[in-house]
Amino acid sequence: MLGLFDSGVGGLTVVKELLKRSPNASFVYLGDTARAPYGNKSAETIKRYAIEDARFLIDHGATSIAVACNTASALALDALRTTYPSVRFFDVISPSIDATWRLRPKKVGVIGTRATIGSSVYERSLKTISDGAIDIISAACPLFVPFVEENWIRKPETKRIAKTYLAKIRQKQVDALILGCTHYPLLQNVIRSSLQKRVRIVNAAAAILDRIAAEAPELMQDATSPSQTFYFTDATAQTQAIADRWLGKHVPCQTTELL
Ligand code: DGL
Repeated sequence: MLGLFDSGVGGLTVVKELLKRSPNASFVYLGDTARAPYGNKSAETIKRYAIEDARFLIDHGATSIAVACNTASALALDALRTTYPSVRFFDVISPSIDATWRLRPKKVGVIGTRATIGSSVYERSLKTISDGAIDIISAACPLFVPFVEENWIRKPETKRIAKTYLAKIRQKQVDALILGCTHYPLLQNVIRSSLQKRVRIVNAAAAILDRIAAEAPELMQDATSPSQTFYFTDATAQTQAIADRWLGKHVPCQTTELL
């Protein structure tokens, strides 16, 4: 069974895409809302959290894990693979790089948490895949995750902050923008309205599902009585409201302890 984790509700953007393709797939989801956001924390802490998140999913039946969090994908993927060598891990970064490269852009904007942008993983991978041909501009957007977790999706304050964060990327007239954080698709309208209309948006959710469908289609098979469980380390009314709205149906969110 597939397990997915994120620091909070962001990984639900990957679940939404999974359910679009396989409404009756079995999976277990963990959002570590009690400790979110991850993106402002140190690499060591992010690794420790990711290892604990994966342990929880393995204990709940996951044999493969989608790291539905860019921050954990950027900083903890190697540690996860070393800690759990028999588990197959799918990250959100390398599929997003492939999806971006397919657009053959000349200039690319990347936005993400401070930890993801600080790791320079997108810049390095884009430079490698394009042999240095892509011009890249990155911006950390640390307030976006709390805005999403607070459900401040349409507030004028959110729009104003988005304009500020994206000003340099807009100025640069990029061809594509990578949403380098799984929370950001929830702000897609705000982000889009801060940039030129022609900018292509790369969303990791579709990219990682394409990768899983190609490499492990059995994980996306519809079951006759699927098991779909949503755990959060702090499932508040807000968490529940976001999950229901984003997935378009009621999904019971349970609070759990990790250890
Ligand atoms: N969805 C996580 C990501 O992709 C958010 C990280 C955070 O909690 O700051 O990076």
